[in-house]
Amino acid sequence: MKIDVVTGDVTQIQSDALVVNYFEAAGQPGGATAAVDRALGGEISQLIAAGEIKGKLDEMTLIHTFGKIPAARVLVVGLGKQEDLKPDRVRNLMGNAGRYLRRSGVRRIASIVHGAGKGGLDPKVAAGAIAEGFVLGLYTFQAYKTQEPEYPGIDEVVLVEGDEGRVQPVKAGAEKGRIEAEATNLARDMANTPSNHMTPADMAECAEQVAKTYGLQLTVLEREQMEAMGMGALLGVAQGSARPPRLIVLRYEGAASEQARGLGLVGKGITFDSGGISIKPSEGLEEMKGDMAGGAAVIAAMQAIAQLKPKINVTGIVPATENMPSGSAYKPGDVLRAMSGKTIEVISTDAEGRLVLSDALAYARQLGLSPLVDVATLTGACSVALGPVCSGVFGNDQSLVDRLIKAGEEGGECNWQLPTYDQYKDLIKSDVADLKNTGGRAGGAITAALFLAAFVGNTPWAHLDIAGTSRTDKDKGFLVKGATGVGTRTLINLALSMEKE
Ligand code: BES
Ligand code: MN
Ligand code: ZN
Repeated sequence: MKIDVVTGDVTQIQSDALVVNYFEAAGQPGGATAAVDRALGGEISQLIAAGEIKGKLDEMTLIHTFGKIPAARVLVVGLGKQEDLKPDRVRNLMGNAGRYLRRSGVRRIASIVHGAGKGGLDPKVAAGAIAEGFVLGLYTFQAYKTQEPEYPGIDEVVLVEGDEGRVQPVKAGAEKGRIEAEATNLARDMANTPSNHMTPADMAECAEQVAKTYGLQLTVLEREQMEAMGMGALLGVAQGSARPPRLIVLRYEGAASEQARGLGLVGKGITFDSGGISIKPSEGLEEMKGDMAGGAAVIAAMQAIAQLKPKINVTGIVPATENMPSGSAYKPGDVLRAMSGKTIEVISTDAEGRLVLSDALAYARQLGLSPLVDVATLTGACSVALGPVCSGVFGNDQSLVDRLIKAGEEGGECNWQLPTYDQYKDLIKSDVADLKNTGGRAGGAITAALFLAAFVGNTPWAHLDIAGTSRTDKDKGFLVKGATGVGTRTLINLALSMEKE
């Protein structure tokens, strides 16, 4: 799908549908919508007077223009109360509007820059939210369908800006939004792909594709190299699977000096989590193909970072393996020696994410990366605590956690902080090793985070638990049923915010 920005008279734009808006209880339509209303002989204001258009959030009114203007249809979207307008509302609204118009057979959408007039949003931010809303909301996963989809889909979205002086920020915002949304859709594609087609080797190939297309350095470690580096935790998880593990490393260099090793992004890449010998119940097990969503978010964020080119260095690391039961699988009671030298008693082979991450974080530290941020579908407990709305965020550095939360807000991703008080550490003390890999059901998201904390030392670090947010069961706003690609835009915006420092 193409995203274009044009300047000119909105009433003269040719399209299958032109999206305008109306604030709740606004009286008369304003700005570009008023111009369209006049060109339509007052049709929009008549519908407002008749009470059919109220401007309630998400209200959609489709008007056929029958040649009065070059746009075949006008869609009036309700923006809700003017004082409540936020970029996230625009992002969600455009997702809903995009799917609504797709169901009407529309191929080419034109849209005014919602919120940039009376709404008071920064034009660059508003344009970014619009581009993200359309690109994310119109996402489909057709890779394994042999039949054409019911609706042809949208080929192009054109943002129309009447004010010449605003065209530059609108273009910049739309471009940034498109890049971030397309990266998110890459993460969605990877996590939606079934595990027989998204093996550790396949993940490495995806990373290679990104590296080649956008000019990143790629290193992929195989089992022998992991053995040489003493990655006993990652190898312990991998030893039950017939598919060999990979440690994927993508590097972007944007800083003037190579000295600063820079930001390290680490993503859990369990391409299928059966639970291992501590096997999971079969109901819903197919969803565990998405247990590499954190790793996908890291690879996707690296793609966008390579395009947006912040003046910092960033390295993405993905420990990729299946977690399978077999005759060679690791077992409860086994003790693993992690790369950091710490020993770990395995209580549950289903607490595998923290094991692969512990070695990936140790490797990131060895590379000198700082700060570190990891993203993982780590615990059902986090999903129980925060539901499908917010990811959990934890860390040993409050300013990093704060910036991560802010970076998330910019892209419409909610990250809510949970505590990491020392008192919880007792729960992961082992009788036979330095640590055990589970701390029981109570406080499970926190003990998992504290387990990771034991492997980052004093390096500033934050951890995102996306177990509850990595997939969604319905289309809503910019989200589409299936993998959400969550974390991708938080990581991208964090990298961009670090450049500003
Ligand atoms: N991948 C799961 C967590 C998960 C659950 C992600 C549901 C998405 C949806 C993780 O590896 C896991 O199994 N965690 C266990 C940890 C427990 C054994 C301490 C859990 O949450 O039950
Ligand atoms: Mn598990
Ligand atoms: Zn898992």
